[in-house]
Amino acid sequence: MTLQSWTTKDIPSQTGKTVIVTGGNSGLGFEAVKALSDKGALVILACRKLEKGEAAKEKIRQSNLTAKIEVMELDLMNLASIHSFVAKFKNQYTHLDLLLNNAGIMMVPYQLTDDGFESQLGTNHLGHFALTGLLISVLKNTPKARVINVSSIAHKKGEVDYDNLLFENGKGYTPLKAYGRSKLANLLFTFELQRFFDTHKMDCIALAAHPGVSDTNLFQHIGSKWLMRILRPLFLFFIQPAEMGVLPELRAAVDKHAKGGMYYGPDGKREMKGFPIVVQATQAAQNKESARKLWKQSEKLTGVVYTV
Ligand SMILES: NC(=O)c1ccc[n+]([C@@H]2O[C@H](COP(=O)([O-])OP(=O)(O)OC[C@H]3O[C@@H](n4cnc5c(N)ncnc54)[C@H](OP(=O)(O)O)[C@@H]3O)[C@@H](O)[C@H]2O)c1
Repeated sequence: MTLQSWTTKDIPSQTGKTVIVTGGNSGLGFEAVKALSDKGALVILACRKLEKGEAAKEKIRQSNLTAKIEVMELDLMNLASIHSFVAKFKNQYTHLDLLLNNAGIMMVPYQLTDDGFESQLGTNHLGHFALTGLLISVLKNTPKARVINVSSIAHKKGEVDYDNLLFENGKGYTPLKAYGRSKLANLLFTFELQRFFDTHKMDCIALAAHPGVSDTNLFQHIGSKWLMRILRPLFLFFIQPAEMGVLPELRAAVDKHAKGGMYYGPDGKREMKGFPIVVQATQAAQNKESARKLWKQSEKLTGVVYTV
């Protein structure tokens, strides 16, 4: 093995580990559930549509009859759903080795979550912020727990306007701006979460990853379906399959050399594809004051206050 060619073969046994993967029914999440359950982890496949989750579980079971996968309902666009997911999880489990905050939407038209948040920030950041905060006590109970947030190259163009975090009434909204903001938020949150773990001396680390550009269902809102169908062969030339795109998430999740605050992405040109290595987040993503402000606003909006 070289550092540049880390693959699923490098994942150590996950037997005895309990893992949550959000958005586990599709794309990168599906690949993560598959890879981690193949290595023996008990994986909670968190998804908003149970039937999609069950179908994904069945698909994985076709090649791994003994895969330990439990499908549980979680809608990140609804705080009540996040609370009930966590309540159900805590009823059954006392440990959580890995929380893989993977689910996401990209470049959708302006719309609101059930709680009135702009949907991209609401799903990609606020939903995961609430989920993680509600799971802090279980993470604290688990030695060497990890939280992984999935960002994007798009964070580089992201900006956060703290006077109009949610593009109130669509003011200033473009699908790309909102996606960039949400993916920048994923990184700001990761680094602040690591500082939270350090401050509270928790045996837990927070890391981030991005998949470059990977062939998943994420692109369904970009352009017309017909145009996408025509452009798809060209598009496929520049991107990588989901099995490759998931590797940075997986490496962040299991590599024994990984440290809190690290950010993994593909090693290819412009980080668009390739094998997972440590990559750089922008200065904006590493801004501590900005991270603190985002945390405060996220606590206020979601009502989830982090306590240990
Ligand atoms: N693919 C790429 O090139 C790329 C690039 C950069 C970053 N990413 C990031 O990678 C992550 C995974 O995306 P993907 O590419 O695998 O896309 P995908 O195939 O569309 O998967 C996204 C997953 O998120 C779930 N999801 C969406 N909204 C949700 C909600 N409200 N509650 C719970 N689950 C929800 C989806 O569920 P449904 O199936 O029910 O819709 C699906 O399972 C995202 O965070 C995305 O931003 C992807």
